[in-house]
Amino acid sequence: MSDSISTDSTTESFVPSITPNVASVTTEHTSRNAENLEVNGTTTGLEARGVHAWFDKHHALEDVSIHFPQNTVTGLIGPSGCGKSTFLRLLNRMHEFIPKSAMAGEVLFNGEDMYASHVNATDIRTRIGMVFQKPNPFPAMTIGENVLAGPKLAKKKVENPDDLLEECLTRAGLWKEVKDRLKAQGSSLSGGQQQRLCIARALALKPEVLLLDEPCSALDPGSTLRVEETIVQLSQSMTIVIVTHNMQQASRVSDYCAFFLSDGGPGRLIEADLTTNMFSNPKDERTANYVQGRFG
Ligand SMILES: Nc1ncnc2c1ncn2[C@@H]1O[C@H](COP(=O)(O)OP(=O)(O)O)[C@@H](O)[C@H]1O
Ligand SMILES: [Mg+2]
Repeated sequence: MSDSISTDSTTESFVPSITPNVASVTTEHTSRNAENLEVNGTTTGLEARGVHAWFDKHHALEDVSIHFPQNTVTGLIGPSGCGKSTFLRLLNRMHEFIPKSAMAGEVLFNGEDMYASHVNATDIRTRIGMVFQKPNPFPAMTIGENVLAGPKLAKKKVENPDDLLEECLTRAGLWKEVKDRLKAQGSSLSGGQQQRLCIARALALKPEVLLLDEPCSALDPGSTLRVEETIVQLSQSMTIVIVTHNMQQASRVSDYCAFFLSDGGPGRLIEADLTTNMFSNPKDERTANYVQGRFG
């Protein structure tokens, strides 16, 4: 068994290939919690199998197969336009919001295909939260209202809102900074605090997975480190997939990395592996060139 989480990116055909060797992570590697890989024969975490994406006729992503083991952090890296954000949106059924979009392949969540006809897309988006590049707290809401907005919009009853508020802000690493100003506007916070507020807001729905799309690209270095601490802390109890352009960030926060690339055609997954391997001993020359900053 190899210790690669990668996958077949060589199939030229349009038909998605389902690769049997996806998720062949050994249990003796250094990643935290990788023993959770299989429970009762079911693959835990998230797994994409032969996934494609289109925007109208534009084939944006081709034949991506990768497993994100439970309670690990995976960094998605690669130049702009290679399909990282598109892939992230496929992982929680946000892609289908985009008019004329289409997809093929399977995404398994704890072993179940989240695109199966009986699965409720809203439920998936509740269980797999997302945080975007630009902090986007609801502008007319206080800090407290922002955090509790998710359950309110989802019409989920919250037994004890004060407890949930404190729990989410604590997990997002923001509680100490805002506990005395919960009624201040969310937009009054600094950029880094706003991003942690958005993480707290996502946590209020108790997601099992958090998808982060370049969450630090609008932040200063100090705020970036603070958000990274939050990500590492959260990964003790949840699966995290983070798109980042920052190679230092990928090496600081992620257990695994996945390198995407487009050669003018659809984006493909070139290689995925333990982050230490991706940076020290990548298998593909294009990965080596990218992580060493020679392009992108
Ligand atoms: N909403 C959209 N409509 C049409 N094309 C899109 C849309 N979003 C992304 N694309 C295209 O899909 C490809 C992948 O984009 P994206 O996933 O945003 O890449 P990345 O996040 O790696 O920069 C690009 O060619 C981009 O132009
Ligand atoms: Mg993007």
